[in-house]
Amino acid sequence: LQSIPFQQSDNVKIACVTIVDEPKYKWRGMHLDVCRHFFSIDFIKKYIDYISMYKMNTFHWHLTDDQGWRIEIKKYPKLTEVGAWRDGSMVGHYNEQRFDTLRYGGFYTQEEIKEVVKYAQQRHVTIVPEIEMPGHALAALASYPEFSCTGGPFEVAKVWGVLDDVFCPKDETFTFLENILSEVIDLFPSKYIHIGGDESPKVRWKSCPHCQSLIKKEGLKDEHELQSYFIQRIEKFVNSKGRKIIGWDEILEGGLAPNAAVMSWRGTEGGIAAAKQKHFVVMTPGSHCYFDHYQGDPKNEPIAFGGYTPVEKVYSFNPTPNELSKEEATYILGAQANVWTEYIETPEHVEYMIMPRMAALSEVLWGTANVSNYKDFENRLITHFDFYEKSGINYSKAIYEVTTEVSSGKNGVEFNLKAVNPKGIRFTIDGSEPTKKSMIYTNPISVTNSCTIKAAYFENEKQKSNTIEQTFNINKSSGKKISLEHQPHENYGIGGSFTLVDGMKGNPSKFGRDWLGFSGKDVVATIDLDRIETISKIKLNVLKSTGSWIYFPKEIEFLSSEDGKKFISMKKFSSTEIENLNGNIEGIFKNTKAKYFKVIAKNLGIIPDGNPGSGSNAWLFIDEISVE
Ligand code: ACM
Ligand code: ZN
Repeated sequence: LQSIPFQQSDNVKIACVTIVDEPKYKWRGMHLDVCRHFFSIDFIKKYIDYISMYKMNTFHWHLTDDQGWRIEIKKYPKLTEVGAWRDGSMVGHYNEQRFDTLRYGGFYTQEEIKEVVKYAQQRHVTIVPEIEMPGHALAALASYPEFSCTGGPFEVAKVWGVLDDVFCPKDETFTFLENILSEVIDLFPSKYIHIGGDESPKVRWKSCPHCQSLIKKEGLKDEHELQSYFIQRIEKFVNSKGRKIIGWDEILEGGLAPNAAVMSWRGTEGGIAAAKQKHFVVMTPGSHCYFDHYQGDPKNEPIAFGGYTPVEKVYSFNPTPNELSKEEATYILGAQANVWTEYIETPEHVEYMIMPRMAALSEVLWGTANVSNYKDFENRLITHFDFYEKSGINYSKAIYEVTTEVSSGKNGVEFNLKAVNPKGIRFTIDGSEPTKKSMIYTNPISVTNSCTIKAAYFENEKQKSNTIEQTFNINKSSGKKISLEHQPHENYGIGGSFTLVDGMKGNPSKFGRDWLGFSGKDVVATIDLDRIETISKIKLNVLKSTGSWIYFPKEIEFLSSEDGKKFISMKKFSSTEIENLNGNIEGIFKNTKAKYFKVIAKNLGIIPDGNPGSGSNAWLFIDEISVE
């Protein structure tokens, strides 16, 4: 198909060639969450077409979750009578906690599933079904509350995030799950069955008499070992049917089941640990493989889960970490992109999130991605855009977007702009819309006063990209030297410590690049103002988005120093004050003189029970420390 010229004509010439080719990785996957939003069989078939078009071979079908059970199980009809429907959904950003009251849902009959499996086989695509356990199980528990610790009652979830009610490891629960898995195994011929395993809070197990006595009886150390017991018991069953399990990397906690494969999503660390234990691994780290993350400047994109994963970042992914020996590396089956649909309601929006990032992942998985020649890939990619347009496939034009970098400048910051062809960038500095007649970008823009810069990419006098807009707030700390005692997490720290003094305030509902994120660690930032300054006001922002495990710090302190050694406390904010200020921290001072200024923001630490992410490290997100 690829060798047929794309323009229609009466006379088509196809080159006579011999193709010798093979992929580098066996598992070339795409995942789709049909629980948060439901997608029709017709669209699932299209999705499989896209997988096959990009010479990928695995469709990971996320069929069950808190917000909906989507597969007919003959033995347990309530799973779809009750579990496939909810009485409302979240609308807007998670932070807003707004809901509608519309009944929402859907499921696939076994006949439909057989049809899709056959359709996929004809295209050499294996479907790996996912049945989530022990967490993300509320839709199942709403249908059969007897398999929970408390007995319920429950409703299919409207809210998403990490919810506390999970399967209780009773004998009856295992019988229930084994009966479900038997029907699933009969429908799907894949070697692997995905059993979930991620984000399963332990609070119910901690106060459940059955769970506690099981821990004693089996000689388990704690609830993490109970999770491991749960997965191992399910693994035995799945193995007895001649199949293997794969699960999210949390299945490493408390000990890996003997034959399990691991899907590494919280970075590549889980995958590295599993490969070192001689277990097969599929790499799908949030940093490179979560296609529910932003692919362009969040300001110009539909609301997304967070993160920043442009096509160039996907292209740079190496599924085989350098930490692995040659032998260990043989356990890396491949990689996969995940499409979680909390914010994605329509097929067109799914297409937008995967195109063109799938093209980049395909080259990664075939082993042809050449990071040092990204430009060549980009040029080839642009030819796919014609194909998308002719085929009616929605796609993101973010690659035309003017991308930006800010660096330290004299008396402020420097704003660097990049585009497919930098000569095509036009910009304004007075907040007006750029046109083909606006200033042509040649060198980094020196920003020494607060202003709004707008820019766009033009080709043949036509605007090809969205307009990007950046407001700068230049103050005494802008562009100054800043050091951090602990480094931010690699996924939320692209710009490094400078992000905090780059003159750009992070957008609270789109926490991608403008924020620094610290997992479990404190922020200890010291700014060198270059000379003794009189400080009258200090401002900074911290973020709360509990669904993403981001919590306000438990304390913030401002300190000043004239010599950089002896710091005196200027002001402390308690957690109540931080909460009351909604994270917009501001301190007013009279005639405080200082050359150095320090911020200490204490991370909440381990997230307390009863909150999303309980038991894990809290994230602390911070941006823009301004000094006036
Ligand atoms: C996941 O993203 N919870 C696997
Ligand atoms: Zn229990």
